[in-house]
Amino acid sequence: MESNTTQDNLQQVILVAQGFYARKDRAHDLEHALRVREWGKLLAEGDGADATVIELAALLHDIGRSGVEKTHAESSAGLAVNILHKTGYSEEIVLRVRDAILTHSREVGHEPNTLEAKILYDADKLDFVGAIGLGRLFAMGGVEGWPLVGENSCETFYLEKICGYQNHLYTKAAKDHFEPLFLFMEKFWHELHAERLKLVLSGQAT
Ligand SMILES: [Fe+2]
Ligand SMILES: [Fe+2]
Repeated sequence: MESNTTQDNLQQVILVAQGFYARKDRAHDLEHALRVREWGKLLAEGDGADATVIELAALLHDIGRSGVEKTHAESSAGLAVNILHKTGYSEEIVLRVRDAILTHSREVGHEPNTLEAKILYDADKLDFVGAIGLGRLFAMGGVEGWPLVGENSCETFYLEKICGYQNHLYTKAAKDHFEPLFLFMEKFWHELHAERLKLVLSGQAT
């Protein structure tokens, strides 16, 4: 009975989150939140972390996002508190979810300091590497009007943000998962530049 209620509450949260994410760019939609939830569950395995806190935080972590502004962690955390109160979660869970969401982005100086917050932070970054990461990067570039390469481009975001994640992960499990996915992205950019160079050279030869 209790697990049914837990499932009902979770479904309710997903439904509300879906409404918020429907208005976001495709890099930060419900699919992103659901993948972060799966990464979170994977990273939490055997670590003694609270799976409910991670799951709820993952589902709601980007609901307050509206573009590339730096304070979305704060707006998401505020919205999450309201949603979880209305859904009937205990104050203890609500506050732990709020703290995890608040620190999933370090852009305004917040540092994750609980195990659940560290796992949410890492899970979010793992969704920005590999083929999925590239897909999200270009989806974001489309919304922001970024060119592929050059100034203020998809590649700039890759070099300045995504490359930096490798030195700022908190859990060993996340570092292990990150590495091969990151190498795939490195190869992609290498290949992209090789193709561009080939075109330039063939243009010079004609
Ligand atoms: Fe975020
Ligand atoms: Fe996110």
